[in-house]
Amino acid sequence: MSIAATKTALSVVDHVRREANGRLNSVRKLELGQFMTPDSIARFMASLFSQREGSVRLLDAGAGVGSLTDAFISRWGTADVNVSAYEIDPTMISYLRNTLNRYGNCRFEASIIERDFIQDAVYRIKLGKKERFTHAILNPPYKKIGSDSQHRALLRAVGLETVNLYTAFLGLVIELMGEGGEIVAIIPRSFCNGLYYKPFREWMLGRASLEHIHLFHSRTSAFTDDDVLQENVILKLTRGKKQGEVTITTSSDPSFSNLETNSYPFADIVHADDEQKFIHVPTDPAHGGISGVPLASRSLEEIGLEVSTGPVVDFRLKEFLRAQPESGAAPLLYPTHFTNGALEWPRQSKKPNAIVNNAETKKWLYPNGSYTVVRRFSSKEERRRIVAHVVDCGAFEGDAIGFENHLNVFHSAKKGISPDVAHGLSVFLNSTAVDDYFRRFSGHTQVNATDLRILLYPEIKELEKLGQWGKKHLRLTQEMIDQQVEAVNGRRK
Ligand SMILES: C[S@@+](CC[C@H](N)C(=O)[O-])C[C@H]1O[C@@H](n2cnc3c(N)ncnc32)[C@H](O)[C@@H]1O
Repeated sequence: MSIAATKTALSVVDHVRREANGRLNSVRKLELGQFMTPDSIARFMASLFSQREGSVRLLDAGAGVGSLTDAFISRWGTADVNVSAYEIDPTMISYLRNTLNRYGNCRFEASIIERDFIQDAVYRIKLGKKERFTHAILNPPYKKIGSDSQHRALLRAVGLETVNLYTAFLGLVIELMGEGGEIVAIIPRSFCNGLYYKPFREWMLGRASLEHIHLFHSRTSAFTDDDVLQENVILKLTRGKKQGEVTITTSSDPSFSNLETNSYPFADIVHADDEQKFIHVPTDPAHGGISGVPLASRSLEEIGLEVSTGPVVDFRLKEFLRAQPESGAAPLLYPTHFTNGALEWPRQSKKPNAIVNNAETKKWLYPNGSYTVVRRFSSKEERRRIVAHVVDCGAFEGDAIGFENHLNVFHSAKKGISPDVAHGLSVFLNSTAVDDYFRRFSGHTQVNATDLRILLYPEIKELEKLGQWGKKHLRLTQEMIDQQVEAVNGRRK
């Protein structure tokens, strides 16, 4: 894969980008999601298009200072190219105009469209005046779309239900492409999983083939000038093309110096029986396919278990919270109660330790028993995203336990599970294999119950064995866990 561009064009655009960045209004910057693409990434993106043939109608939606169009032209030339660059912020426009003017040429046409791309695209689609672009390159703005906003209503009018500007932009761009049209976009990874993005995943996969995904190993490295913590991916899609294998590349940073390339069957990326259409990004061919998770062959439902978000939302039940245990109150567990690996309750911290157990709170409490809990938010520094703990029956007196909303709870029909299974689940979930698998579809530090529901689990008998083994050890190291999970996997083969 060659990433060709002239050095002078490069440094000019990077310079312009930095200058414009300094002039942006910080409030507006967040409002318009103005995180501009460094040149090395723009060039890499441009290199992903297929060899061009014939005339080009290029769409750059949310063009900023024009870095992406510039990279496209540097790579593919100006001959017979017609660019439509949408940009809403007047501060960007003069920079964008300068970038495009550098290519002033009778065989090159560029229109800067100073309008809201979403509104314009929706009008075009509704009026049947689609542009039929042959190419699109974009780094769309990232911002939540309010459920009663004008953008949401516009998107709904064309049947696109989505919660963020970036998926709105990409969804509309897909719709504006002609058959065979190619799209390269850099976007956050959050659309790959999660319930909210399901309609978008269906929209995208129903209209285009997924050709290429590039993943940056490090979450901070894509947008070096800005403090962007989202993990980003670069996608290449082709409108209307039959889905084939998917190329996955990875690099640790935007220099692409350690680029690794592998191909995977589409079934490894989106599992055939997955109603949620999660997009998995395998990064190690040795762990390819679903079989990448040792032991995993059963859905949670098949082994009679469920997982839910902790039902106690503390600010809604303020009057019932108690700093310390007292009679008539049930223990209330937060992630902080597991800070040092094991359950530590009551704990001196800002969080309450108990919740009054009465007619009003009862429905938010679980019966006393054994449970496995997984934190919903891990810190970036934490080695694993999935961190599981056991709440043993016998840890508490009384007949109920409160699980706060920052924990996910494994249970069986809202009741406790067998202690061996609770320990076994915890060992399994804390294994490196499960963590690797989870990272293939989630770029978040957040672990939601939906994510845990789509994992595959060992048979109950295997979980019991793992649990019995786990209970014998006071302290489990990562190595011990991984070896044990591997050993059970060996027995399955
Ligand atoms: C993430 S920046 C990317 C800029 C440029 N494409 C790049 O890669 O450097 C998104 C751009 O979209 C623009 N933008 C935000 N909302 C827009 C809208 N509704 N219509 C058109 N442009 C918009 C912002 O002003 C910003 O310049």
